[in-house]
Amino acid sequence: MDYQTIIEPFRIHSVEPIPMTTVAERSDAIRDAHYNLFQLPARKVMIDLLTDSGTGAMSRDQWAAIQHGDESYAGSPSWEIFESAVHDLFGFAHIIPTHQGRAAERILFALLGGPSKIVPANTHFDTTRANVEYTGAKAIDLLCSEGLDPELDAPFKGNIDVAALANLLEHNASDVPAVVLTITNNSGGGQPVSMANIRATSELCRRFDVPLYLDSCRFAENAWFIRQREPGYATKSVTEIVHEMYSWADGMTMSAKKDPMANIGGWLATNDELLAERARTMLILTEGFPTYGGLAGRDLEAIAQGLQEAVSHDYLQYRIASTGYLGNALDAMGFPVVRPSGGHAIYLDARRLLPQIPPLEYPGQALAVALYELGGIRGCEIGTVMFGRAPDGSEHPSALELVRLAIPRRTYTQSHIDYVVEVCENVLQVAPSLRGYRITKEPPTLRHFTAQFEPLAH
Ligand code: F0G
Repeated sequence: MDYQTIIEPFRIHSVEPIPMTTVAERSDAIRDAHYNLFQLPARKVMIDLLTDSGTGAMSRDQWAAIQHGDESYAGSPSWEIFESAVHDLFGFAHIIPTHQGRAAERILFALLGGPSKIVPANTHFDTTRANVEYTGAKAIDLLCSEGLDPELDAPFKGNIDVAALANLLEHNASDVPAVVLTITNNSGGGQPVSMANIRATSELCRRFDVPLYLDSCRFAENAWFIRQREPGYATKSVTEIVHEMYSWADGMTMSAKKDPMANIGGWLATNDELLAERARTMLILTEGFPTYGGLAGRDLEAIAQGLQEAVSHDYLQYRIASTGYLGNALDAMGFPVVRPSGGHAIYLDARRLLPQIPPLEYPGQALAVALYELGGIRGCEIGTVMFGRAPDGSEHPSALELVRLAIPRRTYTQSHIDYVVEVCENVLQVAPSLRGYRITKEPPTLRHFTAQFEPLAH
């Protein structure tokens, strides 16, 4: 029998209360937060879809692993468990634990970057871009053309444009210290990268003797998409697919706060012995001794256990189907969304929903505030507020005006998502009456976290 209902492949063992709030309470809260959702106290949020990072529910076995944690400063058995879990799945010779993904990026690009260097990617995530640029290097995005069209339904919209990469390497290979593939492509709608694209990128990199690093936060979701969508992979296990994906790479950066379902953690892994040695020296300066990095022994164990659960087919079937359930329901009611649904998030298209709000009046912010006021849902603007301010101080519309609804892993049930759908239906109805915002205060960089807004009068 092919039943349609997605049942969560777990029972609930421990619960957290959701504080119920009214529209009036939320209107006060968002006004007090100067209409910036990052400034809201989480206790005023009912369904928190700000991020899928570190917000997942750990399993019984992960909590048990936490109890098993050994806090020896050097050579802890928890390190051995962590190292072998990472090594078994990804195969790299050197594994360097960090407190989260960006710490791995900071170490990697401090070693590889520098003025006059160019680091191409399908799309750099913000922290990767910031860590590349901090060294004086240039971070450039070479996303395939399908990935730029939010309405196009294509299977691997996260692919890098291999021809553009070949062109860059032919002219500038000596300035390129590494190529990065972000899997799945978070900033490009949570879209996957195909095995064929990973292989073609790797072959190109090897031809020019440039290492390929995978920014791997959502590697298991990416592998599941390959299994579902790429010819030849339907009968392979996710573990086999992951082995093949990483056989094409020279290293990885990782945030264990995503697919490995930990609340904190990350790592840098590489086959380059010299780089690993230099990375360990930096690690000791800013993170910690190489057998714990920025983590407690208990965290290393939670990650090791989470990695096993992340590649479970029952889990991934549910994970990808439940994200798609939200995307399909919104699409069916005519709510503009990026197609197809991503692995970890649904991206609402505020430009299409709110054509009356010009980009410099922040349609994404208007939509994010409406979702909060009307339903207590917290999403994240990914548009002109996030990307609009250039380093020279000028302001330009972002290519897309999106609001990301990121789904924490194993945290919300289908009825929570049904509620989100209902709130979106309401937002769709009131959309023509929504108005834009004006920024009253902003910091010089990363303004989306702390900027203050004021609603514009009709
Ligand atoms: N790379 C990607 C693709 C990410 O999505 C993130 C984090 C990082 C690197 C950095 O990892 O947070 O552990 O330092 N993304 C979060 C998000 C913050 O909400 O998408 P981190």
